[in-house]
Amino acid sequence: MSHVTNFFNDKTILLTGGTGFLGMCLVEKLLRTANISKIFILVRGSTDRLTQIWRNHLPHHAEAMIRSGKVTPLVGDVALPQLGLSVAQIDELSRTVQIVIHGAANISLKASLATLFKDNVKASLDLAELATRSFVRLERYIHISTAYVNSHLADGSIIKEDFYWHTSSNAEEEYRQVSQTGDSPYTKLFPFPYAYGKHLVERLLLLRYPNLPLLIMRPTCIGPAVQEPHPGFEIRGSSPASGFVFGFLSSKKPVTYWPSTRNMDGHNIIDEIPVDFVVNSIIVHAAYGTMGIAHSSTSCSAPLKLRDQLECAWKTMPAAGRPQFVFTSDLKHSEFCRTARLYFAFGNEWFYDDQKTRELMERMSPADGIAFNVDVRSFNRWSHNSKRAAVYWYELTKNEKMKQKKGIMPVQAGQLALARL
Ligand SMILES: NC(=O)c1ccc[n+]([C@@H]2O[C@H](COP(=O)([O-])OP(=O)(O)OC[C@H]3O[C@@H](n4cnc5c(N)ncnc54)[C@H](OP(=O)(O)O)[C@@H]3O)[C@@H](O)[C@H]2O)c1
Repeated sequence: MSHVTNFFNDKTILLTGGTGFLGMCLVEKLLRTANISKIFILVRGSTDRLTQIWRNHLPHHAEAMIRSGKVTPLVGDVALPQLGLSVAQIDELSRTVQIVIHGAANISLKASLATLFKDNVKASLDLAELATRSFVRLERYIHISTAYVNSHLADGSIIKEDFYWHTSSNAEEEYRQVSQTGDSPYTKLFPFPYAYGKHLVERLLLLRYPNLPLLIMRPTCIGPAVQEPHPGFEIRGSSPASGFVFGFLSSKKPVTYWPSTRNMDGHNIIDEIPVDFVVNSIIVHAAYGTMGIAHSSTSCSAPLKLRDQLECAWKTMPAAGRPQFVFTSDLKHSEFCRTARLYFAFGNEWFYDDQKTRELMERMSPADGIAFNVDVRSFNRWSHNSKRAAVYWYELTKNEKMKQKKGIMPVQAGQLALARL
């Protein structure tokens, strides 16, 4: 018997972020592989919006997900009091939910702390408060954080699955200051406000809710799927390294400049993990009862250099038009294109130790190891990245040809957004 499916058998789950990249893949996998009883999904706007988004992004899977009869969409918003739900809805969640997976977040690297406070900081703490106070059957509370909560640490650090406070200051005091002023002097210790906001949440979750059955999952950069829901699946705009690769391929300059600190000349590790490995990690850590913090990362187990990532893309271009790429330790170099400016943190290098996942692999049955593969050494990173670059290059050249032919550029909204970076 699979330990993982055994654990999830007949469980009732509350998920936030089910219209997003990670959440959508998580729902698809849970519905397909685990005999859960019900999954409540908080969705902004309308219940139809959830199914429309799934149909748009996962046309080959959406019908099975919808027809499973196990999905209950709840129209709400994590930033609203009581999730924007009615008393009766909160009452039902309180009586039935055994697992909370909180994946909703504003993932913009450009958003101000004032904006992120509402959606990411206060919302996460309010949900934990609600679950602690009211969810009488709660067995697991999974908060999706980010490995970048530790991006205040020195470049080159090995980061354990632990908390590294940026300061000894009072976390509640920091929270009060951000809630009142919309900013904090500590934001500048991190590459983006998003990272500081998530850092503060982790700290307060631990302080305020010591009795919550809390698992903090920290993925690094989430990338396209290796296998599930289908090879190459991603949502454009939700995969930072994809934005980086697309920006590189779109560049029209003969020489492009890219960040790489400590004169590493592109030999720094860029940590990206395919979405299906993040989904499987969340599922197996939940099933095996991991508490505290777990990384979902590749830098220690299957590292890839920034230079290699760019070379995968570079090699898909025709030899005649390939730009030269130059690495610089100046993370604010004046010649940076918009992509390099936005993703300047890729010039750093942190090693995210994934010890808990490696230990788990030892305990999983061979069948679970296949069905819920978390071994990031099991796929060829070079070939995976090259395929993404080939798809992007095809799209870019196809669009270019169409533009020349018709004077229009038929790109999807997500691609258009990336093209503007
Ligand atoms: N993508 C990455 O590389 C990465 C890396 C590390 C950690 N993470 C974390 O993983 C989680 C999922 O990220 P993702 O990549 O799936 O992002 P995403 O594709 O942008 O999805 C974000 C999800 O959050 C929902 N959301 C945002 N604000 C909300 C609100 N106020 N109320 C209800 N729902 C709200 C969005 O709903 P709408 O459809 O209504 O906007 C969407 O479903 C996040 O916690 C993120 O911080 C992501």
